[in-house]
Amino acid sequence: MNRRHFLSRAGSAIGLSTLSPRLALAAAPARPRVLEARKATAPLMGAAAPPTAVWAYDGQVPGPVIRTKQGEELRLRFANRLGQPSTVHWHGIRIDNAMDGVAGLTQAAVPPGESFDYVFTPPDAGTFWYHPHNRTWEQMARGLYGLLIVEETEAPAVDRDLALAFDDWRLGEDGQIDEASLGQMRDWSHAGRLGNWLTVNGVSQPEIALRKGERLRLRLANCCNARVLSLRLDGHAAWLVALDGQPIAPYQPEDGVVTLAPAQRADLIVDAVLEPGARPAILEVGGDYAVETAVLVYRPEVVARAALLPPPAALPDNPLPRALDLGSALRQELLMEGGAMGRMAGARHKGRHMGMRELVGQGMVWAFNGTAGMTEAPLLRVERGRTAVIEMINDTAWPHALHLHGHHFRVVERDGRALSGEPWRDTVLLQRDEKASIAFLADNPGKWMLHCHMLEHQAAGMATWIEVAG
Ligand code: C2O
Ligand code: CU
Repeated sequence: MNRRHFLSRAGSAIGLSTLSPRLALAAAPARPRVLEARKATAPLMGAAAPPTAVWAYDGQVPGPVIRTKQGEELRLRFANRLGQPSTVHWHGIRIDNAMDGVAGLTQAAVPPGESFDYVFTPPDAGTFWYHPHNRTWEQMARGLYGLLIVEETEAPAVDRDLALAFDDWRLGEDGQIDEASLGQMRDWSHAGRLGNWLTVNGVSQPEIALRKGERLRLRLANCCNARVLSLRLDGHAAWLVALDGQPIAPYQPEDGVVTLAPAQRADLIVDAVLEPGARPAILEVGGDYAVETAVLVYRPEVVARAALLPPPAALPDNPLPRALDLGSALRQELLMEGGAMGRMAGARHKGRHMGMRELVGQGMVWAFNGTAGMTEAPLLRVERGRTAVIEMINDTAWPHALHLHGHHFRVVERDGRALSGEPWRDTVLLQRDEKASIAFLADNPGKWMLHCHMLEHQAAGMATWIEVAG
């Protein structure tokens, strides 16, 4: 992060009119029938600066927050008004395979001018999101993403439910997306495309009004192409209640820091305990110095409470598998290689072995099990109902955020240490040279991608798929 986060100090206030959850719900289009991807502009640098040309869902960055109810059918017509083919992937939803939105695997990309109907019933309540799954590295860098919130049938009692989508943009001095650097091999072989301008819900350092005495649910989503975020809310002891959409036993992280790899989400319960006039920030503390991503602004009014609020209860369980039978699990190794400062000398691509120089010419610099990019045959074929374990070995000098489609998994081993009771996740962060084994019940038939969610790594080879048969 550099000083460019501070180019504009003028945050835009999220006013008191949004204080009532009922009012906010009434005002927002709860279920847009059509989700249109098109060119638009967004005031990323603040209202006083010229707007940034973006690609956006329904003309807004992020796209509209889609709210639906657990177990209710959602119907969305995706209309592609972009100049290139696209799809919509519903990240983290344990969805019917045909609705997963992966171009070339579960559907053909939707050409410009055409549309595709997505119809699905989310089994899990929680914080999810949506984004394209065709040239994702470019389409997301240009602004195509949004949050998908699946409400519990019995939602926890909070005064407000705030969803915050974090994104880092790479902007030039003119405030426009740095297009020349899109597809730059230097990013692809290193950490991925890291931005120089951080936004929360499309605004740099927004001010979020709240009142002493309120209880908030904060939904944080890392929508960056490649940046890992370490977030901490100043002045409050927040309870972590869900990760990647799935409830956990609530606890307060010791140092207050929630680390989110690209694509990961966290739900927090926060009691507003400061005095009117206080301005605590949500800080990003992963870099050399803390960056204010958003500021909570305490209003003069306070909410009177008869008694101190008790610690939050756990969110209601989602219908996840009861048990993972590790003893009889099908095991598959996944060796991650390549990238700058790596040892990879070559890999298979397009059906034959290529040396590093030739691979780079193909835009490939990473490999899974010696192969760069998608293959005809899946990495793993597993019968429905069986537990599978994928033993991931990060033999690279970079962190990676591995995402499995269609299933949530648990990390059952890290660096040779067996773990139990780890949270259900859809994305796991592996540090350089780290090993982690994930286990999941293969209960959702179809073809499911497994890839690094650092989108440049995905595009440059870190992508494969598994098949659940039956
Ligand atoms: Cu967020 Cu393959 O997806
Ligand atoms: Cu990666």
